[in-house]
Amino acid sequence: MTGTRRHVLITGASRGIGRLAVERFARGGWSVIAGVRDPAHLEPFDVGGVEVVRLDLNEPEQIAAAADRAHAIAGGALDCVVNNAGWALFGAVEDVDLDDARRQFETQLFGPVALLQEVLPRMREAGRGAVVNVSSLSGRVPLPLFGMYSAAKLSLTTVSEALALEMAPFGVRVTVIEAGVVDTEFARSTVISGAVGTPATPYAAPRDAILGRLRAVRGDAPVRAQDVADAVFAAADDPDAPLHVVLADEVLRDPVFDVEGRGPSAAVLDGVRALFEF
Ligand SMILES: NC(=O)c1ccc[n+]([C@@H]2O[C@H](COP(=O)([O-])OP(=O)(O)OC[C@H]3O[C@@H](n4cnc5c(N)ncnc54)[C@H](OP(=O)(O)O)[C@@H]3O)[C@@H](O)[C@H]2O)c1
Repeated sequence: MTGTRRHVLITGASRGIGRLAVERFARGGWSVIAGVRDPAHLEPFDVGGVEVVRLDLNEPEQIAAAADRAHAIAGGALDCVVNNAGWALFGAVEDVDLDDARRQFETQLFGPVALLQEVLPRMREAGRGAVVNVSSLSGRVPLPLFGMYSAAKLSLTTVSEALALEMAPFGVRVTVIEAGVVDTEFARSTVISGAVGTPATPYAAPRDAILGRLRAVRGDAPVRAQDVADAVFAAADDPDAPLHVVLADEVLRDPVFDVEGRGPSAAVLDGVRALFEF
């Protein structure tokens, strides 16, 4: 670490939640390494202390190079890494293109894990650090036609839970952020796959209902992108940050979607720890 300045690497920093997180960290006095796919078309950040690195999570060499650059800037271990980059695959399980599905998992599971594999050894050796993974409530509450997106997000959530257990003895914290619908331009990041994009699809009814509902909700979504960016910052900044941060739309607080009740209780976790002696 150079002086007492803290260093964070954020993926998917060009727009939306990632961009707001870059600004939040920079305003908080952190040095920010902002990972973007296409630096040539990046609108300049209007805060100082930001270094841009090229980082496409589907390009393994870029992951290694971005981590190297971040470590050089930090002069050693990073204080935080934020896996935020994402896009949504929209297609029926019946005929979604499996290469598209593999790309989805590459961006939202294997790419983030590859990045973690680059940065965790130094964090572990330093005995400090925070991992913030931006997952989604879609992982727990899947919508039709978003099956692969939900599966990739739930995988990231599950990996985060295991990682938290692995890293706790080494002083590295993990927080997974699960939000409902957020007011970003995430629709731009949606890729339609398989026959769901054609008029003849048997899934026209759920397709039209879901896309229409998402369009209607997004404009005045109860979860604001700034709230998510603030939660990301808090997870990095607060030594007592919880493993799970849920930012839910009101509808998801309905008992039908008991999102906060999922997961093992403290007693179950204690029992498992006792059983396996960790
Ligand atoms: N918006 C929601 O309703 C919502 C809800 C829950 C969770 N989330 C999650 O929040 C995160 C941020 O999404 P957002 O709402 O801020 O959407 P957004 O405005 O569409 O931003 C997505 C970001 O991810 C980047 N990205 C996409 N694919 C990438 C790849 N292969 N490698 C590197 N960067 C990539 C995009 O870069 P480009 O500019 O190059 O495309 C962009 O910076 C995502 O993980 C998303 O799943 C969103």
